[in-house]
Amino acid sequence: MQKITIAIDGYSSCGKSTLAKSLAHKLGYNYIDTGAMYRAVALYALRHDLFDENKNLNKEEMINVLPLIDVEFELNPTTHNSDVILNGENVEREIRTMEVSDLVSKVSAVKEVREKMVASQRQMGKKKAVVLDGRDIGTEVFPKAELKLFMIADPEVRAKRRQVEFSSKGQYFTIDEVEMSLLKRDMADISREESPLTQAEDAVVLDNSDLSKEEQLEFVLKLIADLHYISREEQSHH
Ligand code: DC
Repeated sequence: MQKITIAIDGYSSCGKSTLAKSLAHKLGYNYIDTGAMYRAVALYALRHDLFDENKNLNKEEMINVLPLIDVEFELNPTTHNSDVILNGENVEREIRTMEVSDLVSKVSAVKEVREKMVASQRQMGKKKAVVLDGRDIGTEVFPKAELKLFMIADPEVRAKRRQVEFSSKGQYFTIDEVEMSLLKRDMADISREESPLTQAEDAVVLDNSDLSKEEQLEFVLKLIADLHYISREEQSHH
């Protein structure tokens, strides 16, 4: 069957990466978590004191140090996921903290940061057979992707899911704290000048507020089968 590019965009914590991972697994495709790349750059900025006491980013210095930042993925043999590697160090855990979540929008708004990440994403995805999730995949990174999804979900549902994710890692926050952080990030993503989060015209909207993971996977596999990129037998995930 023809190998395609699948672009998944949407708001924070809509379950993009969960769906992307299971799709990639089902289809034997690579998965690229583009948000993890921006998070790794934010972690670098945090560790190198590029934020002042008011959490403002020193943009000029950020641009200066960009050539020193290398972000890659490496398959983790235990989890079978791709871990993000920052300058040779596995930072998969460190990039998922609330602190990084709250700072990453400042980093991802910088044009030069985006240019570097987008170039790397295009390089990694150029052979197709890839699922990417992020905010600008269908609009900027791969505007010709054969399948584009735009994921949405109720903010309350999203906050609950993220709270569970945080607490499974020993980080405890109230629902209000998590929801506030999410909505702030949404605002930053849709209002920034460089490649703001928007729905591509040809994207299929997937509202997963009331859908299980299995139902979402089934929905997308049916879409792919309807487009004749996989056969009916491959569509069945049982
Ligand atoms: O998907 P995530 O929450 O891990 O993404 C982290 C941040 O990076 C998010 O606030 C928006 C930004 N981002 C982006 O600007 N473009 C992408 N393609 C992916 C993420």
